[in-house]
Amino acid sequence: ALRASFARKAHKDAQVVQSQFQPQASYKVAVLGAAGGIGQPLALLIKMSPLVSSLHLYDIANVKGVAADLSHCNTPSEVLDFTGAAELPSSLKGVDVVVIPAGVPRKPGMTRDDLFNINAGIVRNLIEAVADNCPDAFIHIISNPVNSTVPIAAEVLKQKGVYNPKKLLGVSTLDVVRANTFVAQKKNLKLIDVDVPVVGGHAGITILPLLSKTKPSVSLTDEEVEQLTVRIQNAGTEVVEAKAGAGSATLSMAYAAARFVESSLRALDGDGDVYECSYVASDLTELPFFASRVKLGRNGIEAFIPSDLQGLTEYEQKALEALKPELKASIEKGIAFANKQT
Ligand code: NAI
Repeated sequence: ALRASFARKAHKDAQVVQSQFQPQASYKVAVLGAAGGIGQPLALLIKMSPLVSSLHLYDIANVKGVAADLSHCNTPSEVLDFTGAAELPSSLKGVDVVVIPAGVPRKPGMTRDDLFNINAGIVRNLIEAVADNCPDAFIHIISNPVNSTVPIAAEVLKQKGVYNPKKLLGVSTLDVVRANTFVAQKKNLKLIDVDVPVVGGHAGITILPLLSKTKPSVSLTDEEVEQLTVRIQNAGTEVVEAKAGAGSATLSMAYAAARFVESSLRALDGDGDVYECSYVASDLTELPFFASRVKLGRNGIEAFIPSDLQGLTEYEQKALEALKPELKASIEKGIAFANKQT
């Protein structure tokens, strides 16, 4: 009887261990540009998600080693590697979320728009493959200039007849992560509690933190608002300069992108309370693309939150009007590029 009771207990323990280490759900995520400065730490963070059963790593080179290395982590997902254009289609088959950090990063003195000539073509080619192989996936675009690469992706998907604006998401999460950190530091708040919506786009003055909408509400002097706004807008450049030629933000970007992937997976998994800021097709303003808080659900964007743009301070309202011409030009540049190529 004693032996039977031990056996029962061992069986129960095994079940507990199994349920702890087995995926709670089984989603497939592909990272395109997975051997890069963002791609590698991002792949590691995604490998830690209990919601992922399969992680597909694609790059034009050096991805085999990254995948072999990651595959030894005893977390649920399998890790598969795909190298070069010939293996791109198989990296995308059956995938639920595609994350794209492929492309060149900034060096000191460069704007994000200076990356356009190289990255626009990379994004176009990758999105063509996404359209052919996993048109229903959530698509997360990290490659800069995001203000233009998202419109490029939209045009390519339209050309392929599979455009779903609810699932094409420009990753501006790092702006929110930075805003939360800087506001919490300045006001001595517990970081975990602070949430600042950031709207507009993802470059220079198009990044508009709505500090008046910070949760919990904080009181800031005009000088503090100005200082924080400028720091959030230039935070990427802060990192580019500190790295002095070795690239741009990779670790904080991987953290932000992993948070956004996790949010998309929770949305796919039926969580009804998922909100993120993202640069998306939008009719909140007269611009066709605009970053704002959106509610994510199983089918992508479920709702916008127009009240986020109401009751702005005079400073925010002015900054919103001031960013529109630059953002509009970046959008038009992306659309023109995508249509010139066909
Ligand atoms: P990186 O140069 O370290 O890595 C880029 C990777 O992309 C490399 O492994 C490269 O082999 C790969 N790649 C190049 N062409 C490719 C193609 N056709 N298909 C697949 N992979 C390809 O650059 P890093 O630092 O990882 O940055 C990547 C991109 O992310 C840059 O465009 C950068 O500007 C952007 N970025 C975006 C941010 C955002 O907030 N959205 C923040 C920081 C960077």
